[in-house]
Amino acid sequence: MKILGIESSCDETACSVVEDGKTVLSNVVASQIDEHKLYGGVVPEIASRRHAENISRVTKKALEDAGCTLDDIGAIAVTYAPGLIGALLVGVSFAKGLAMTAGKPLIPVHHIAGHIAANYISHPELRPPYLCLVVSGGHSHIIEVRDYTKYHVIGRTRDDAAGECFDKAARTLGYEYPGGKYIDAAAKLGDPEAYKLPHPKITGSEFDFSFSGLKTAVINQVHNAAQKGETIKPEDMAASFQKTVADTLAQKTILAAKTFGYKTIACAGGVSANSGVREKLSEECEKRGYKLYLPELKYCGDNGAMIACQGYYDFLAGKRADESLNAIATLSLDDISE
Ligand code: KG4
Ligand code: ZN
Repeated sequence: MKILGIESSCDETACSVVEDGKTVLSNVVASQIDEHKLYGGVVPEIASRRHAENISRVTKKALEDAGCTLDDIGAIAVTYAPGLIGALLVGVSFAKGLAMTAGKPLIPVHHIAGHIAANYISHPELRPPYLCLVVSGGHSHIIEVRDYTKYHVIGRTRDDAAGECFDKAARTLGYEYPGGKYIDAAAKLGDPEAYKLPHPKITGSEFDFSFSGLKTAVINQVHNAAQKGETIKPEDMAASFQKTVADTLAQKTILAAKTFGYKTIACAGGVSANSGVREKLSEECEKRGYKLYLPELKYCGDNGAMIACQGYYDFLAGKRADESLNAIATLSLDDISE
Protein backbone atom coordinates (compact mmCIF):
# COMPACT_ATOMS: atom_id res chain seq x y z
CA MET A 1 0.00 0.00 0.00
CA LYS A 2 1.35 3.42 -1.01
CA ILE A 3 0.93 6.24 1.49
CA LEU A 4 1.41 9.93 0.74
CA GLY A 5 2.98 11.63 3.78
CA ILE A 6 2.68 15.39 4.28
CA GLU A 7 4.78 17.32 6.84
CA SER A 8 4.56 21.06 7.57
CA SER A 9 5.00 21.40 11.35
CA CYS A 10 7.94 23.82 11.27
CA ASP A 11 10.04 25.20 8.43
CA GLU A 12 10.15 22.31 5.97
CA THR A 13 7.35 21.67 3.50
CA ALA A 14 7.78 17.97 2.83
CA CYS A 15 5.94 15.25 0.98
CA SER A 16 6.81 11.66 0.24
CA VAL A 17 5.35 8.43 -1.11
CA VAL A 18 6.26 5.33 0.90
CA GLU A 19 5.18 1.77 0.14
CA ASP A 20 4.22 -0.54 3.04
CA GLY A 21 5.95 1.67 5.59
CA LYS A 22 9.44 0.87 4.32
CA THR A 23 10.11 1.51 0.63
CA VAL A 24 10.60 5.22 -0.06
CA LEU A 25 9.45 5.97 -3.63
CA SER A 26 9.96 9.74 -3.34
CA ASN A 27 11.03 12.24 -0.70
CA VAL A 28 10.68 15.95 -1.51
CA VAL A 29 11.70 18.57 1.07
CA ALA A 30 11.38 22.33 0.45
CA SER A 31 13.41 24.05 3.15
CA GLN A 32 12.73 27.65 4.20
CA ILE A 33 16.01 28.01 6.10
CA ASP A 34 17.50 30.63 3.77
CA GLU A 35 14.71 33.02 4.68
CA HIS A 36 14.44 32.27 8.42
CA LYS A 37 18.18 32.49 9.00
CA LEU A 38 18.02 36.23 8.26
CA TYR A 39 16.03 36.51 11.53
CA GLY A 40 18.11 34.04 13.57
CA GLY A 41 15.22 31.60 13.96
CA VAL A 42 11.92 30.43 12.50
CA VAL A 43 9.37 33.24 12.04
CA PRO A 44 6.00 31.45 12.39
CA GLU A 45 3.99 33.65 10.04
CA ILE A 46 6.60 33.43 7.30
CA ALA A 47 6.67 29.65 7.77
CA SER A 48 2.88 29.37 7.30
CA ARG A 49 2.91 31.57 4.19
CA ARG A 50 5.74 29.61 2.56
CA HIS A 51 3.98 26.31 3.31
CA ALA A 52 0.84 27.68 1.63
CA GLU A 53 2.87 28.68 -1.43
CA ASN A 54 4.87 25.45 -1.70
CA ILE A 55 2.66 22.60 -0.58
CA SER A 56 0.89 21.87 -3.89
CA ARG A 57 4.13 21.95 -5.86
CA VAL A 58 5.95 19.74 -3.34
CA THR A 59 3.09 17.20 -3.36
CA LYS A 60 2.92 17.12 -7.18
CA LYS A 61 6.68 16.55 -7.32
CA ALA A 62 6.49 13.73 -4.73
CA LEU A 63 3.83 11.96 -6.82
CA GLU A 64 5.82 12.51 -10.03
CA ASP A 65 9.09 11.28 -8.51
CA ALA A 66 7.30 8.16 -7.25
CA GLY A 67 5.94 7.58 -10.77
CA CYS A 68 2.34 7.59 -9.61
CA THR A 69 -0.86 9.61 -9.48
CA LEU A 70 -3.32 10.12 -6.62
CA ASP A 71 -5.22 7.07 -7.93
CA ASP A 72 -2.30 4.84 -6.88
CA ILE A 73 -2.26 6.22 -3.32
CA GLY A 74 -3.99 4.13 -0.64
CA ALA A 75 -4.14 6.78 2.09
CA ILE A 76 -2.95 10.29 2.95
CA ALA A 77 -1.00 10.79 6.19
CA VAL A 78 -0.44 14.25 7.63
CA THR A 79 1.34 15.73 10.65
CA TYR A 80 -1.37 17.30 12.83
CA ALA A 81 0.61 17.79 16.09
CA PRO A 82 2.77 19.10 17.70
CA GLY A 83 4.36 22.14 16.03
CA LEU A 84 3.75 25.72 14.94
CA ILE A 85 -0.02 26.02 14.74
CA GLY A 86 -0.21 28.09 11.54
CA ALA A 87 2.32 25.84 9.83
CA LEU A 88 0.48 22.67 10.87
CA LEU A 89 -2.86 24.10 9.71
CA VAL A 90 -1.57 24.49 6.15
CA GLY A 91 -0.62 20.80 5.92
CA VAL A 92 -3.77 19.61 7.69
CA SER A 93 -6.12 21.70 5.52
CA PHE A 94 -4.34 20.68 2.33
CA ALA A 95 -4.36 16.97 3.26
CA LYS A 96 -8.06 17.12 4.17
CA GLY A 97 -8.93 18.71 0.84
CA LEU A 98 -6.87 16.15 -1.04
CA ALA A 99 -8.31 13.19 0.88
CA MET A 100 -11.90 14.38 0.42
CA THR A 101 -11.50 15.09 -3.30
CA ALA A 102 -9.71 11.83 -4.03
CA GLY A 103 -11.89 9.78 -1.67
CA LYS A 104 -8.88 8.45 0.28
CA PRO A 105 -8.57 7.67 3.99
CA LEU A 106 -6.90 10.44 6.03
CA ILE A 107 -4.45 9.46 8.78
CA PRO A 108 -3.42 11.96 11.48
CA VAL A 109 0.25 11.48 12.46
CA HIS A 110 2.04 12.77 15.56
CA HIS A 111 5.30 14.49 14.54
CA ILE A 112 7.46 12.75 17.17
CA ALA A 113 5.98 9.36 16.26
CA GLY A 114 7.08 10.26 12.71
CA HIS A 115 10.67 10.94 13.82
CA ILE A 116 10.71 7.58 15.63
CA ALA A 117 9.41 5.83 12.47
CA ALA A 118 12.37 7.16 10.43
CA ASN A 119 14.29 4.21 11.89
CA TYR A 120 11.85 1.69 10.35
CA ILE A 121 12.82 3.07 6.93
CA SER A 122 16.56 2.88 7.57
CA HIS A 123 16.30 -0.42 9.49
CA PRO A 124 13.32 -2.53 8.37
CA GLU A 125 14.39 -5.22 10.85
CA LEU A 126 13.74 -2.90 13.83
CA ARG A 127 10.61 -3.89 15.75
CA PRO A 128 9.10 -2.60 19.00
CA PRO A 129 9.55 -2.80 21.92
CA TYR A 130 12.63 -0.61 22.27
CA LEU A 131 13.77 2.63 23.83
CA CYS A 132 14.05 5.77 21.67
CA LEU A 133 15.89 9.01 22.34
CA VAL A 134 14.20 11.74 20.27
CA VAL A 135 16.27 14.91 20.01
CA SER A 136 15.27 17.70 17.67
CA GLY A 137 14.91 21.47 17.49
CA GLY A 138 11.71 21.38 19.52
CA HIS A 139 11.91 18.15 21.53
CA SER A 140 14.15 16.05 23.79
CA HIS A 141 12.46 12.88 24.95
CA ILE A 142 13.33 9.41 26.15
CA ILE A 143 10.44 7.22 25.05
CA GLU A 144 9.47 3.60 25.54
CA VAL A 145 8.19 2.48 22.14
CA ARG A 146 5.98 -0.35 23.36
CA ASP A 147 4.42 -0.98 19.97
CA TYR A 148 4.22 0.80 16.58
CA THR A 149 1.49 3.09 17.93
CA LYS A 150 1.97 2.82 21.71
CA TYR A 151 4.41 4.95 23.64
CA HIS A 152 5.37 5.90 27.16
CA VAL A 153 7.40 9.05 27.70
CA ILE A 154 10.03 8.43 30.41
CA GLY A 155 11.98 11.69 30.24
CA ARG A 156 11.61 15.10 28.67
CA THR A 157 13.36 18.45 28.68
CA ARG A 158 12.47 20.88 31.45
CA ASP A 159 13.51 23.90 29.36
CA ASP A 160 15.37 24.08 26.01
CA ALA A 161 15.37 21.17 23.59
CA ALA A 162 18.77 19.73 22.61
CA GLY A 163 18.59 21.22 19.09
CA GLU A 164 17.58 24.60 20.46
CA CYS A 165 20.62 24.49 22.75
CA PHE A 166 22.88 23.62 19.77
CA ASP A 167 21.39 26.52 17.80
CA LYS A 168 21.81 29.04 20.65
CA ALA A 169 25.38 27.98 21.39
CA ALA A 170 26.09 28.21 17.67
CA ARG A 171 24.71 31.74 17.50
CA THR A 172 26.96 32.79 20.40
CA LEU A 173 29.93 31.41 18.47
CA GLY A 174 28.92 33.36 15.35
CA TYR A 175 27.40 30.56 13.24
CA GLU A 176 24.20 31.14 11.30
CA TYR A 177 20.82 29.56 12.09
CA PRO A 178 20.29 26.64 12.50
CA GLY A 179 23.78 26.15 13.86
CA GLY A 180 23.73 22.49 14.97
CA LYS A 181 25.50 21.30 11.83
CA TYR A 182 28.15 24.08 12.10
CA ILE A 183 28.91 23.08 15.70
CA ASP A 184 29.21 19.49 14.46
CA ALA A 185 31.69 20.49 11.73
CA ALA A 186 33.70 22.83 13.99
CA ALA A 187 33.84 20.25 16.81
CA LYS A 188 35.78 17.90 14.51
CA LEU A 189 38.62 20.47 14.51
CA GLY A 190 38.55 21.34 18.22
CA ASP A 191 39.66 20.01 21.62
CA PRO A 192 36.69 18.68 23.64
CA GLU A 193 38.62 19.16 26.90
CA ALA A 194 39.50 22.81 26.23
CA TYR A 195 36.62 24.35 28.20
CA LYS A 196 34.85 23.14 31.33
CA LEU A 197 31.08 23.22 30.95
CA PRO A 198 28.52 22.13 33.54
CA HIS A 199 26.69 18.83 33.20
CA PRO A 200 23.06 19.79 33.63
CA LYS A 201 21.77 18.85 37.10
CA ILE A 202 18.13 17.90 37.57
CA THR A 203 16.19 17.37 40.74
CA GLY A 204 13.20 15.05 40.56
CA SER A 205 13.08 12.72 37.57
CA GLU A 206 16.54 11.42 36.73
CA PHE A 207 15.44 10.87 33.12
CA ASP A 208 14.54 14.50 32.43
CA PHE A 209 16.88 16.90 30.64
CA SER A 210 17.74 20.55 31.22
CA PHE A 211 19.85 22.37 28.65
CA SER A 212 19.36 26.03 29.49
CA GLY A 213 22.20 26.11 32.07
CA LEU A 214 24.61 24.70 29.51
CA LYS A 215 23.53 27.30 26.95
CA THR A 216 24.05 30.08 29.54
CA ALA A 217 27.49 28.70 30.45
CA VAL A 218 28.62 28.94 26.81
CA ILE A 219 27.25 32.49 26.52
CA ASN A 220 28.95 33.53 29.81
CA GLN A 221 32.34 32.04 28.91
CA VAL A 222 32.30 33.73 25.49
CA HIS A 223 31.24 37.11 26.95
CA ASN A 224 33.67 36.95 29.90
CA ALA A 225 36.53 36.20 27.53
CA ALA A 226 35.52 39.14 25.31
CA GLN A 227 35.44 41.48 28.34
CA LYS A 228 38.98 40.45 29.28
CA GLY A 229 40.13 40.98 25.71
CA GLU A 230 40.70 37.23 25.30
CA THR A 231 39.33 35.13 22.49
CA ILE A 232 37.56 31.81 22.64
CA LYS A 233 38.56 29.36 19.94
CA PRO A 234 35.19 28.49 18.38
CA GLU A 235 36.31 24.98 17.38
CA ASP A 236 37.39 24.22 20.97
CA MET A 237 34.16 25.58 22.46
CA ALA A 238 32.11 23.69 19.84
CA ALA A 239 33.94 20.44 20.69
CA SER A 240 33.60 20.98 24.47
CA PHE A 241 29.90 21.85 24.12
CA GLN A 242 29.11 18.93 21.81
CA LYS A 243 30.89 16.48 24.12
CA THR A 244 28.87 17.72 27.11
CA VAL A 245 25.57 17.33 25.23
CA ALA A 246 26.51 13.90 23.83
CA ASP A 247 27.65 12.66 27.27
CA THR A 248 24.43 13.85 28.92
CA LEU A 249 22.15 12.34 26.26
CA ALA A 250 23.99 9.02 26.31
CA GLN A 251 24.18 8.81 30.13
CA LYS A 252 20.42 9.39 30.58
CA THR A 253 19.48 7.04 27.75
CA ILE A 254 21.66 4.22 29.10
CA LEU A 255 20.29 4.77 32.61
CA ALA A 256 16.73 4.58 31.24
CA ALA A 257 17.58 1.43 29.27
CA LYS A 258 18.99 -0.23 32.41
CA THR A 259 16.11 0.88 34.61
CA PHE A 260 13.37 -0.18 32.20
CA GLY A 261 15.14 -3.28 30.92
CA TYR A 262 15.75 -2.39 27.25
CA LYS A 263 18.68 -3.69 25.20
CA THR A 264 17.49 -2.19 21.93
CA ILE A 265 17.90 1.57 21.62
CA ALA A 266 17.09 3.97 18.78
CA CYS A 267 17.78 7.65 18.31
CA ALA A 268 15.80 10.04 16.09
CA GLY A 269 15.24 13.72 15.28
CA GLY A 270 17.44 16.44 13.79
CA VAL A 271 20.12 16.14 16.50
CA SER A 272 20.47 12.40 15.80
CA ALA A 273 22.47 13.59 12.76
CA ASN A 274 25.16 14.89 15.13
CA SER A 275 28.39 12.91 14.75
CA GLY A 276 29.35 13.32 18.43
CA VAL A 277 25.95 12.08 19.63
CA ARG A 278 26.03 9.15 17.19
CA GLU A 279 29.57 8.19 18.26
CA LYS A 280 28.94 8.44 22.00
CA LEU A 281 25.70 6.43 21.82
CA SER A 282 27.40 3.81 19.63
CA GLU A 283 30.30 3.53 22.07
CA GLU A 284 28.13 3.20 25.17
CA CYS A 285 25.78 0.69 23.52
CA GLU A 286 28.64 -1.40 22.18
CA LYS A 287 30.23 -1.56 25.67
CA ARG A 288 27.04 -3.08 27.07
CA GLY A 289 26.09 -5.27 24.13
CA TYR A 290 23.00 -3.14 23.38
CA LYS A 291 21.77 -2.89 19.79
CA LEU A 292 21.64 0.73 18.56
CA TYR A 293 19.63 2.02 15.59
CA LEU A 294 20.35 5.42 14.02
CA PRO A 295 18.43 6.84 11.04
CA GLU A 296 20.24 7.60 7.79
CA LEU A 297 21.19 11.28 7.80
CA LYS A 298 18.51 12.19 5.22
CA TYR A 299 15.76 10.94 7.58
CA CYS A 300 17.03 12.65 10.77
CA GLY A 301 15.55 16.10 10.07
CA ASP A 302 11.91 16.77 9.18
CA ASN A 303 10.71 14.88 6.10
CA GLY A 304 7.53 13.41 4.62
CA ALA A 305 8.83 9.82 4.43
CA MET A 306 8.81 9.42 8.21
CA ILE A 307 5.20 10.66 8.28
CA ALA A 308 4.15 8.27 5.51
CA CYS A 309 5.94 5.42 7.31
CA GLN A 310 4.28 6.10 10.67
CA GLY A 311 1.03 6.70 8.75
CA TYR A 312 1.22 3.11 7.53
CA TYR A 313 1.42 1.74 11.09
CA ASP A 314 -1.31 4.13 12.27
CA PHE A 315 -3.46 2.96 9.33
CA LEU A 316 -2.94 -0.70 10.32
CA ALA A 317 -3.94 0.24 13.88
CA GLY A 318 -7.19 1.71 12.53
CA LYS A 319 -6.40 5.38 13.11
CA ARG A 320 -8.43 7.65 10.81
CA ALA A 321 -9.38 11.32 10.73
CA ASP A 322 -12.50 12.83 9.22
CA GLU A 323 -13.09 16.30 7.80
CA SER A 324 -13.16 17.80 11.30
CA LEU A 325 -9.41 17.11 11.84
CA ASN A 326 -7.68 20.10 13.45
CA ALA A 327 -4.04 20.95 14.13
CA ILE A 328 -2.76 20.84 17.74
CA ALA A 329 0.30 22.86 18.80
CA THR A 330 1.12 20.83 21.95
CA LEU A 331 0.30 17.16 22.38
CA SER A 332 2.24 14.51 24.31
CA LEU A 333 2.75 11.06 22.81
CA ASP A 334 1.35 9.71 26.09
CA ASP A 335 -1.99 11.28 25.20
CA ILE A 336 -2.32 9.38 21.92
CA SER A 337 -1.35 5.98 23.39
CA GLU A 338 -4.12 3.88 24.84
O1 KG4 B 1 13.97 17.33 13.69
P1 KG4 B 1 14.27 18.69 13.18
O2 KG4 B 1 14.54 18.85 11.71
O3 KG4 B 1 13.11 19.69 13.52
C1 KG4 B 1 12.33 19.64 14.67
O4 KG4 B 1 11.40 18.78 14.74
O5 KG4 B 1 12.63 20.44 15.59
O6 KG4 B 1 15.51 19.24 14.04
C2 KG4 B 1 16.15 20.45 13.77
C3 KG4 B 1 17.29 20.63 14.76
C4 KG4 B 1 17.92 22.00 14.70
O7 KG4 B 1 18.04 22.50 16.02
C5 KG4 B 1 19.29 21.71 14.10
O8 KG4 B 1 20.31 22.59 14.47
C6 KG4 B 1 19.56 20.33 14.63
O9 KG4 B 1 18.32 19.66 14.52
N1 KG4 B 1 20.62 19.64 13.87
C7 KG4 B 1 21.81 19.29 14.39
C8 KG4 B 1 22.55 18.70 13.36
N2 KG4 B 1 21.79 18.70 12.22
C9 KG4 B 1 20.59 19.27 12.55
N3 KG4 B 1 22.30 19.45 15.64
C10 KG4 B 1 23.53 18.99 15.88
N4 KG4 B 1 24.32 18.42 14.92
C11 KG4 B 1 23.87 18.25 13.66
N5 KG4 B 1 24.65 17.66 12.74
ZN1 ZN C 1 10.98 17.39 13.70
